[in-house]
Amino acid sequence: MSHLEDRDRLDRVDGTSHLERLRQIPRDTGRFLALLAASAPPGAWIEIGTSAGYSSMWLALAARERATSLTTFEILAVKAALAADTFSLTGLDDVVSLVHGDFLDHVSELGDIGFCFLDAEKDVYDQCYDAVVSRLAPGGLLVADNAISHEIDLRPVIEKALDDPRVDAVVVPIGKGELLCRRKSGPA
Ligand SMILES: C[S@@+](CC[C@H](N)C(=O)[O-])C[C@H]1O[C@@H](n2cnc3c(N)ncnc32)[C@H](O)[C@@H]1O
Repeated sequence: MSHLEDRDRLDRVDGTSHLERLRQIPRDTGRFLALLAASAPPGAWIEIGTSAGYSSMWLALAARERATSLTTFEILAVKAALAADTFSLTGLDDVVSLVHGDFLDHVSELGDIGFCFLDAEKDVYDQCYDAVVSRLAPGGLLVADNAISHEIDLRPVIEKALDDPRVDAVVVPIGKGELLCRRKSGPA
């Protein structure tokens, strides 16, 4: 994990372009995600926005603990190639399936979701929110990154979640701010 942490730190100060930067979650957010995912109900575990696979590694550790697996979606070929190397080097291939493509093109293939981490471009959050929440199993969790760092861009989806009768939602001040939603039991 540490070489990706070093590269991410450098990216932020050496002029690397936005598209090329890894833009990873900080370590405490990784711990938080792993802890939440380990408590998720039955259902698929997915991640939207892999980059080089740093956050996926935290989730993969929890997946292994729960004897389940993670499917992670990455739209950029160069990032998907980096992530494939990460999973192979760390021996996490057995718990992580990497899909190179736009998550929104794969939504129809999904069944019930037990856990989702959303960390993609901010302009797709709203569509991803709708696609994921309608598929969350009872007690299923959606965690969306950047709820505080990009609060202005994400305000519509945050307000949607806070007003959504299907979920309990809160913004947690950890890392860049995590919008945490838990699907209620019972009919929508
Ligand atoms: C902030 S980075 C993800 C960082 C990663 N979660 C981590 O913490 O290590 C966002 C990534 O989402 C990818 N992305 C953006 N829109 C996407 C989409 N619609 N489907 C899949 N990946 C997407 C970008 O190419 C980028 O690599």
